[in-house]
Amino acid sequence: MLAAHDQARLDALYESMSRASQEALGYPVARDFDYAPLYRFLQFPSNNIGDPFQASTYRVGTREMEREVIDFFAALFRAPHDDYWGYVTNGGTEGNLYGLYLAREMYPNGIVYFSEDTHYSVAKNVHFLGLRHIMIRSQPNGEIDYEDLEESVRLHRDVPAIIFANIGTTMKEGRDDIRRIQEILKKLVVQERYVHSDAAFCGPFAQFLDPKPAFDFAEGADSIAMSGHKFIGAPMPCGVVIARKRNVERIGRSIGYIGSMDTTITGSRNAFTPLLLWYAIRMMGEQGLRKRLARCQEIAQYAVEGMNARGIAAWRNANALTVVFPRVSETLKSKWQLATQDAISHLIVAPGTEPVLIDALIADIVKEQT
Ligand SMILES: Cc1ncc(COP(=O)(O)O)c(C=O)c1O
Repeated sequence: MLAAHDQARLDALYESMSRASQEALGYPVARDFDYAPLYRFLQFPSNNIGDPFQASTYRVGTREMEREVIDFFAALFRAPHDDYWGYVTNGGTEGNLYGLYLAREMYPNGIVYFSEDTHYSVAKNVHFLGLRHIMIRSQPNGEIDYEDLEESVRLHRDVPAIIFANIGTTMKEGRDDIRRIQEILKKLVVQERYVHSDAAFCGPFAQFLDPKPAFDFAEGADSIAMSGHKFIGAPMPCGVVIARKRNVERIGRSIGYIGSMDTTITGSRNAFTPLLLWYAIRMMGEQGLRKRLARCQEIAQYAVEGMNARGIAAWRNANALTVVFPRVSETLKSKWQLATQDAISHLIVAPGTEPVLIDALIADIVKEQT
């Protein structure tokens, strides 16, 4: 039995996480999930080691459900039905690393282009992979500056181009248009090219926006990564990466020890998170995702209007769930867990963010200003 003081620490931690979870407004995580029916699966030493599309000698896993998750998102992202592959990752960062890894295997001497608003992990991933990169200017709304991109690629037309596009930047939810990017590459006759879409937050809903951002396979993506714990919601980080199968085939190695192909970044892989994502998409379906999006959009607009009405210069990109406003004090940043960078802070309306929280934040900001 756990010692009394350890039990007390656990109880205190529970209370503190419970409170913190209610007051988190700055990070893109849904909080309205209930996975209680899946708790019984936590009693197994589960592991989806190896390739989800191949059986492994180790059978305590959830590969079948993982494949259904991949099929769902491949269809949502309009991947070619006979040429896609994917797996459930530890999060957006791993999916982005995977896309860049495939790109490097195709074009080891390629240059990676990404905007200055790109998530901090990408520069590190590029460094891991030993790839050259060029950082491109961003527009004020967070979207890549296409002229700067064109100019930079023009100077290196003899080198394969690996484009890392943001489908929702971390701070402003700016969305790069990969159709426009593909046009630039075609115009410059850069035939050796690879485009990865980082749809960490927006992946599960970008397809339902009007106008729809250009980010999917039909529009020229070679791989797409998203996080599972953000818009969908999960009690632990997870994600999905979808890529073109023929690009994955060039990296796979058959491993006798696991009786499967080594196509993923890590060896042992979480078998519980595919189950969470499977349960979520089965419970919600496309209709449920659309409904969640509509509710979040309403609340994001409510937040912008509420802030503007009280003299706070808040704004959001068209259809974005991220509301940007002038940097708040350290006290409010810490109280509301508001991601803050340079002169701006933001709040993100993820499913489960209720208007009362927005009202309370606005009241706090106004109180500090008076
Ligand atoms: C645009 C973008 N890409 C990648 C990531 C990393 O995703 P994860 O935290 O799931 O690894 C984030 C996280 O916020 C993000 O905003």
